[in-house]
Parts: sequence; C-alpha cells; structure tokens
Amino acid sequence: MTLPSTIAIDGPAAAGKSTVAQRLAAWLGYLYFDTGVMYRAVTLAALEQGLDIAGEAGMNHLAKTLTMDVQPPTADDGRQYTVLLNGRDVTWEIRRSEVDACVSTVSAHPKVRQVLSARQREMGQRGRVVMVGRDIGTVVLPDADLKIYLDASVEERAQRRTLERREQGQPANYEGILERMRERDELDSRRPVAPMQPAADAVRVDTTGLTEEEVFDLIVGVVLSGRENLSDSP
Ligand code: C5P
Repeated sequence: MTLPSTIAIDGPAAAGKSTVAQRLAAWLGYLYFDTGVMYRAVTLAALEQGLDIAGEAGMNHLAKTLTMDVQPPTADDGRQYTVLLNGRDVTWEIRRSEVDACVSTVSAHPKVRQVLSARQREMGQRGRVVMVGRDIGTVVLPDADLKIYLDASVEERAQRRTLERREQGQPANYEGILERMRERDELDSRRPVAPMQPAADAVRVDTTGLTEEEVFDLIVGVVLSGRENLSDSP
C-alpha cells in the first residue's frame, strides 16, 4: 500500500484541523505545517507597525520583506510549534483577538497570498507533509495526494474556541467568539482570490459532535483506505 505523501487539510477555524493534522503528521513521521501562522504573523507585524491593513501596497511590501520562521516547539507550554517574527517569539501573540479580527482582511490581498503561497508550495512539494489551511487543496498544492476538508457547525466551533481560550486562562465570551467566527468564515469564503472551499476531489468530514479521538480515527481510516465521502456518514 502506498501512503499519501502530501496531505492537504482545509476548512474553517476550529473545525479540528490543527489537532488532527499534528497527530496525523506525528503518526506518519511527516512534517506538520499550519499555513495560518504565516497570515497571522504578517497581520501581527502590520498591527505593531501601525500599518493600514487594507492598504494593498504596504501589505505587499511587508509580506515580501518580513522574516518569519516556524520551528519545532521551544517551550513546553502547550504550543505546537514556535513562530519567530524577525527573530522574536510570537507564538502566542499571533493568537490574540486583534489578530483574529484583522487576519482575513490581510489574507484577502492577492499579492500577500502570492508571496506566502509560494513559500508554502515550496515546502509542500518536498513531500511527507501534512499542510493545513484554507486553500491548500485548491491553490497551494492542487496535486496533493490526499485532500481533506474538515467542517463543523459554527456554533460548535465557537464553543470549542471558547473552551480552548478559557483553558489557557484567557477571558472568553461565547457570543462574541461566535459572531467573529461567522465574520471570518464569511470573509474567507467570499474573497475573490483563493476562497476557502473544498477542492472538488477533497474527502469531506463533518466533525460536529465528534471527539478529537473520533476525528483522528476517521482521518487515519481515510489515509489508509483511500477516498470515501464521509460527510453523509450516519
Ligand atoms: O487557521 P487560522 O485560523 O490560524 O487562519 C487564520 C486566517 O488566515 C484565516 O482566517 C484566513 O483568513 C487566513 N488563511 C488563509 N489561507 C490559508 C490559511 C489561513 O487565507 N491557507
């Protein structure tokens, strides 16, 4: 049996992508890469520099010139990886709610996407990788060996994010998180360039009501057995 070498996992925020992707990559001995951190790092840098995030030219320049690096975790504080922005550890800062609120505006700039997608593609084409994002199966790695699109109801995703934030000791209001998640879904799926959508040949998995363990088992089943549309499973 030949296992897929490039695996693309797309879907909206808190659908369970990063948890399952990290476990899957560890299980396969592959690299795990979460492309959302790149858009988040550009957004954080723009906010810190006081740039107009809607301004095309400034954001393009920033995406091209910024030095960012994603490395294996350098601290035992629940992180999946360490993100460096111009050498500074910004792993937790890129998760701040101001970044959440602005990242979809930044990621809608076609040239910002061009710069970041090229770097992602380069990494993906080396193979043995589980890459997570919104447009991996459609744009970044359209020839990926396996494409998975994970989804869940927006209410459940907001609930997951609320619990996650509280577990990290941060204040979290379910209604506010739900509203911002709806806005982000809307912006990500309606942008003209590389909108969030399942690739035509993606295996679709609805994780609503499933535990992390159940999602992992489902995905391992897909990896081992090939393609089966699981979205209509009982
Ligand atoms: O996955 P995460 O929630 O960290 O992604 C943050 C944002 O980055 C998304 O809401 C989206 O606007 C953008 N993104 C993207 N394409 C990707 C990954 C993330 O546009 N491949």
